[in-house]
Amino acid sequence: KRPVGVPDKSLARTVGKVGVVGAGLMASQLAWLFVRRLEVPVVMTDLDAERVERGVAYVHGEIDKQLGKGRISADKAARYKALVSGSVDKSVFADADFVIEAVFEELDLKKRIFAELEGIVSEDCVLATNTSSLSVSAMAEDLTHPQRVVGFHFFNPVAVLPLLEVVRAKQTDDATVATAFAVCKTLKKNGVLVADAPAFVVNRLLTRFLGEIFACVDEGTDIETADHAVDELGLPMTPFMLLQLVGPAVARHVAGTLHQAFPDRYGVSENLDRLVEAGKSSVYVWDASGKPSVDPDVPQI
Ligand code: 3HC
Repeated sequence: KRPVGVPDKSLARTVGKVGVVGAGLMASQLAWLFVRRLEVPVVMTDLDAERVERGVAYVHGEIDKQLGKGRISADKAARYKALVSGSVDKSVFADADFVIEAVFEELDLKKRIFAELEGIVSEDCVLATNTSSLSVSAMAEDLTHPQRVVGFHFFNPVAVLPLLEVVRAKQTDDATVATAFAVCKTLKKNGVLVADAPAFVVNRLLTRFLGEIFACVDEGTDIETADHAVDELGLPMTPFMLLQLVGPAVARHVAGTLHQAFPDRYGVSENLDRLVEAGKSSVYVWDASGKPSVDPDVPQI
């Protein structure tokens, strides 16, 4: 279904409290953005108290950085800190108007979370997903009120990159899309309304881009040569630096979704698989002076 236009902003509902499911790196970046731009209470949940504390500590750390750079006053920093909290109990979302999940990229897990949330939040509360490639319509299909589910896909680093893909699922209603765009505007992001197709728009291209650099390595060019060759194009960062920013596991997950959907257009890379299986977060390691070199332990054909 075509997402058509952005509905009139008069349909948007007010967002006075935000919930973030997950307290990992992506979720914490989202929590910080919501605190800073919406200036409403933001509550994060995760599986255990340690993860929740780490998420809240990340947001506090970002607030302290802004304070240290003289960009916000001590009063504002204290106000921001008071807005963010965490819990292992999702009942803290009961009075939230907008809950976004940023947990592992597993459709069943996301469906279970949304089903659980339906028993906690009001029927008007938007349920957003930051999925990189999964079907938003599939996430909504078993819910009682699937019309409030929407994709809200951010790009790394969340605080810096202005793009936000708003994904309209088959069930999403106009009020939900209007609310998503109103939130997007307050977040100062450039929202684009995209269809619920595998990996939406940007990750389709990104996956081809990273897929081709891996293909070059799979076919025998060494990592540094391939990476530096592309650097000549003047992109903001080289493909293997971008891979580190995205995370090899996320990149492989998106590539897997696209390979399944369009096997003739998206391949799989043995080297990417090996990198993920070896638990590496980058092909590079950095020396004490900050100079990168290819990790000698990176498995390569
Ligand atoms: N995390 C958080 N903040 C970061 C960061 C990071 N990894 N890297 C840089 N920043 C911040 C800096 O703190 C600085 O913030 P400030 O202005 O408030 O002090 C700002 O970004 C600019 O930093 P620099 O001047 O040091 O760096 P650059 O000018 O080189 O820009 C960059 C860094 C913005 C990361 C740039 O290299 C870039 O745009 N790279 C491409 C990123 C990209 O394509 N991301 C999309 C990935 S795809 C995705 O996320 C989708 C997912 O589903 C897979």
